[in-house]
Amino acid sequence: MHASSRTGPPGTYDVLVVGGGVIGLVTAWRAAQRGLRTAVADPAPGGGAALVAAGMLAAVTELHYGEQELLALNLASARRYPAFTAELEEASGQETGYRACGTLAVALDADDRAHLRDLHALQLRCGLDAQWLTGRECRRLEPMLAPCVRGGLRVDGDHQTDPRRLAAALLTACERAGVALHRAAAARILLDGDRAAGAELADGERILAGQTVLAAGSRSGRIAGPPDEVLPPVRPVKGQTLRLRVPEAYRPFLSRTVRAVVRGGHVYLVPRENGELVVGATTEELGWDTTVTAGGVYELLRDAHELVPGLTELPLVETSAGLRPGSPDNAPLLGPTALPGLHLATGHYRNGVLLTPLTGDVMAEVLTTGRLPEEARPFSPRRFTEPAEPAPAPPSSFRSSPHDRQ
Ligand code: GLY
Repeated sequence: MHASSRTGPPGTYDVLVVGGGVIGLVTAWRAAQRGLRTAVADPAPGGGAALVAAGMLAAVTELHYGEQELLALNLASARRYPAFTAELEEASGQETGYRACGTLAVALDADDRAHLRDLHALQLRCGLDAQWLTGRECRRLEPMLAPCVRGGLRVDGDHQTDPRRLAAALLTACERAGVALHRAAAARILLDGDRAAGAELADGERILAGQTVLAAGSRSGRIAGPPDEVLPPVRPVKGQTLRLRVPEAYRPFLSRTVRAVVRGGHVYLVPRENGELVVGATTEELGWDTTVTAGGVYELLRDAHELVPGLTELPLVETSAGLRPGSPDNAPLLGPTALPGLHLATGHYRNGVLLTPLTGDVMAEVLTTGRLPEEARPFSPRRFTEPAEPAPAPPSSFRSSPHDRQ
């Protein structure tokens, strides 16, 4: 499909994006830049899970076994961040808080150390840059760390941005690029024969569009209209975060993101240049609940205090909870669905902020050309709806290797 001119009947667009979080906004901004008449439907655009997120760009430190394809996507997006930030800041006239500060992942006891050693081995096998440090070397880098730190991984390529400023800048960039903002929730996807044709909003307005992108985070699977098998299998995964303030006199309190696994839970401290210190995050499978709980706040502060004892002296200025859009394989769903005219940009789970630049590029490409870029093909929504191609049979000499049973 070719980009059309910016004229057309009112309420009719080339592209309607359902959801105005960072993923929906970056999709709309990039689509509008390519000349597509674009609208966003969201009661509060610029909101969503990013308002709670800490903004780590942690492709290397959040690597997991079996997620090498996702790693490639995450790294591709991380590489785009500097140029993306410069372009977005220019387009919006707003700063986004991108900070190339690196990350230090530390171990507090022998179990944590073993876990971190495993992660390091996996990182090296994947060709990633991560350096093992002794506890003393960790404390030399970050003097506020607890004396009991047993070692750590220095990852100079895992940076941060400020998701709240990112969302605000994307909203302004969308407005400046001519994206129409419909400040109401989408109640259902409209169908025209066998095609998606836009959405009806909660206030009754009907927005017609040649292509519709469902980018409503964890709520993307709940919208009426499309057949059930087309809707994304996303679920809400609650995360609670805290915001502390580092007074001028204590700065720099931490110079980079510091993280650890404590009692099996991840805790991370993300220091901003403006003195904000974000502590995250819980991971809770509790449906749609977004209550900030005493237990969540207690556990985050307890674990963060073990890591950096001086942190309890800082003012606690905010507690918040949001919902990550989890998918069955922890990876996003990007591109066309089996319903013509309906695309997905959701399921980013722990990597929504990290994957924002790449998602914008991928979705703009598919919306203008109909083709999903090569790097995004493993993340097509169709991986959950179409049977996988059978794997080729291994050579006979491999069939009964003793390693298969280990
Ligand atoms: N990527 C950090 C989190 O989801 O908590």
